[in-house]
Amino acid sequence: MAKTRAPAVNGKAYPVTHHNYDVVVVGAGGAGLRATLGAAEAGLKTACVTKVFPTRSHTVAAQGGVAASLGNMGPDNWRWHMYDTVKGSDWLGDQDSIEYLCRHAPDAVYELEHYGVPFSRTEDGKIYQRPFGGMTTEFGEGPPAQRTCAAADRTGHAMLHTLYGQSLRHSAEFFIEYFAIDLMMDSDGACRGVVALNLEDGSVHAFKAKRTILATGGYGRAYFSCTSAHTCTGDGNAMVLRAGLPLQDMEFVQFHPTGIYGAGVLITEGARGEGGYLTNSQGERFMERYAPHAKDLASRDVVSRSMTVEIREGRGVGPEGDHIHLHLDHLDPKILAERLPGITESAKIFAGVDLRRQPIPVIPTVHYNMGGIPTNYHGEVLTKKDGNPDHIVPGLMAIGEAACVSVHGANRLGSNSLIDLVVFGRAAGLRCAEMLDAKERQPELPGDATDLALSRLDRFRYAKGETPTAALRLRMQKTMQANCAVFRDGPVMQEGINKINTIWRDSDDIKVTDRSLIWNSDLVETLEFDNLIAQAAVTVTGAENRKESRGAHAREDFSSRDDANWMKHTLAFADYDTKTVRLDDRPVHTYTLTNEMHYIEPKARVY
Ligand code: FUM
Repeated sequence: MAKTRAPAVNGKAYPVTHHNYDVVVVGAGGAGLRATLGAAEAGLKTACVTKVFPTRSHTVAAQGGVAASLGNMGPDNWRWHMYDTVKGSDWLGDQDSIEYLCRHAPDAVYELEHYGVPFSRTEDGKIYQRPFGGMTTEFGEGPPAQRTCAAADRTGHAMLHTLYGQSLRHSAEFFIEYFAIDLMMDSDGACRGVVALNLEDGSVHAFKAKRTILATGGYGRAYFSCTSAHTCTGDGNAMVLRAGLPLQDMEFVQFHPTGIYGAGVLITEGARGEGGYLTNSQGERFMERYAPHAKDLASRDVVSRSMTVEIREGRGVGPEGDHIHLHLDHLDPKILAERLPGITESAKIFAGVDLRRQPIPVIPTVHYNMGGIPTNYHGEVLTKKDGNPDHIVPGLMAIGEAACVSVHGANRLGSNSLIDLVVFGRAAGLRCAEMLDAKERQPELPGDATDLALSRLDRFRYAKGETPTAALRLRMQKTMQANCAVFRDGPVMQEGINKINTIWRDSDDIKVTDRSLIWNSDLVETLEFDNLIAQAAVTVTGAENRKESRGAHAREDFSSRDDANWMKHTLAFADYDTKTVRLDDRPVHTYTLTNEMHYIEPKARVY
């Protein structure tokens, strides 16, 4: 911590406390904590800036497990995991990054075990692994793989607590309940750190850093019904857009098949991994028709679409025929108590059912964003510059759900998120250790480094419009839910673009009533809404633009995958003056990392 100075913004002073770090990580979920731990362990002066207490980050809600080919329950191999991930991504994933993920996954899980994650165990003391959707053996030809390492159905909770403890052990410094407002970028396009507001006392802090790592998670709250915490507002993604950099593949939004009807709360895919199954109003196990081989353990996009078709064709359950039943009532209560205690409780609290006797009412619910900040497998942020689609933005990194590495492509397999967090969190720490010298001094910040953040803070703090933030947010969430859903169609998405752009423009009339800086939730929700609306705009604009069906992007007017024209990543830039989106693209990496695995050629994706 060092000097303070008081720049004038609209005539009002915001004293800024300046900090100097080698590495600043924004976000304390699984990826953020793993990167914080890695950088601190390497002897770099490391800070983690987080808007919630670390163990309240959204990773805490991750249930079913973390994928790695340990082979504890039967034969397995990282190459089979890679094949499944490429197929799951519907060939939009970058195969060099996917190889990196799958071959490093076992070591990353053993590392978690040694750090102290309390994994469930087999009879002979090994880490317990359950089946998850789309995970197979023998390059899709063999039986389902039991690849998902689990701590009952509270795997994310166990990981977060362990990683936070380990980060403290290595003397990482935490700035808790600090809300990141904006990046500090210099005139060469390099990131020099981040500006954040201390929510508790209203002080403003500038964190100068050699590397700024965004680990700010997804933006599920752009939708009306999602499994994401209210904090999932994609703050890092929006900072990147405001810095004039692109987001990638934002049109790919994952709907988890089993959100609790009406509440949105997650019922883990592990429920089906343990033998649960879905039925329609006729009591039929309909997944046998859609995915004869994998059935209820087909990949998430396939199951969500099948459920939606059942409901649309009049075979939904409930008085309004608008949801589906998930059965666990046939399973041994001992298994439920040991392996699925969390969802047993959630089903009781949020659906009022005893899952030992009754089915759970479920519906596909927004769960994950495949798109995000484009990076390479080291976590370095990429943009397109001077014809180079893989230009590295100096000083800026991104990991976890905020990033688009891209290992999930058009559709993520369940349990590949937690492994993405730890493999690429670890990779980012390793890259910082490799590239940074703790003894090297950083140049001074440009004089205007904090201006963008302070003017943004001030503008919303004193916003005097007529429209409350909550009203704009609800319009955005309902539009995204209706106009950019499981099934998509050109005219519906065009209407979505018009509506979202109108809401974005209407935000010029936003009204904030609380002018204070201490625990001002009105102001924070407004800054978060401002983050969400730009991401909603790039999502629906990218979706309308992509004239094919691939993974989670299922168009009724273009129902096939079109590799000739669309096997490419979407890049989306936000124009804040006109409140519109500009699109570009960059190639998918159709090469592997090493010659220990060959490129997996595209083919039809059937389960
Ligand atoms: O179903 C689940 O437990 C979620 C896992 C995931 O999204 O990876």
